[in-house]
Amino acid sequence: MEEWLRMRSVLWPHCLPEQLRLEMREWLSNPEKRACFVVEASPGRLCGFLEAGLRDYADGCDTSPVGYIEGWYVDASYQRMGLGRALVRAAEEWARSKGLRQMASDCELDNHTSLAAHLALGYEEAERSIHFCKNLMID
Ligand SMILES: CC(C)(COP(=O)(O)OP(=O)(O)OC[C@H]1O[C@@H](n2cnc3c(N)ncnc32)[C@H](O)[C@@H]1OP(=O)(O)O)[C@@H](O)C(=O)NCCC(=O)NCCS
Repeated sequence: MEEWLRMRSVLWPHCLPEQLRLEMREWLSNPEKRACFVVEASPGRLCGFLEAGLRDYADGCDTSPVGYIEGWYVDASYQRMGLGRALVRAAEEWARSKGLRQMASDCELDNHTSLAAHLALGYEEAERSIHFCKNLMID
């Protein structure tokens, strides 16, 4: 659990550890709809994870539900060794075993590495979006 948390903290640095732990508990409590795949670098030491889940809807998909890559990470010193690819393949196999026909994912607009990796693994860009937020307590 601590290794999983360590990697999640690197992937989502703006999330508080308590929030990350809460999500991990939620993930583990719903094995029908959630799965986490990890890569072990050495006994007790992980170097990558992929959290996959089911979503009712995903942009670009025309089936429902679909598998969804919710979190995907490989430690910097282990990247470009095929581990990310292996994690995605495992998640796709999991989704397939549930009878799902499509897998979806997303990444930030400026995450060029993630975009390149998704494209390399057969994912097609479906849509680009910009999110807005307005603080209603100001005016
Ligand atoms: C995205 C990530 C998980 C990929 O993991 P990885 O183990 O390096 O991926 P792989 O080695 O399996 O690469 C698979 C393919 O993706 C492409 N790719 C991966 N990294 C790339 C890079 N930096 N530049 C260009 N293409 C890249 C390549 O085509 C690669 O195949 P190749 O090495 O045979 O050419 C990893 O870069 C990562 O953890 N990044 C930081 C966190 C992150 O951005 N996660 C995704 C959030 S949406």
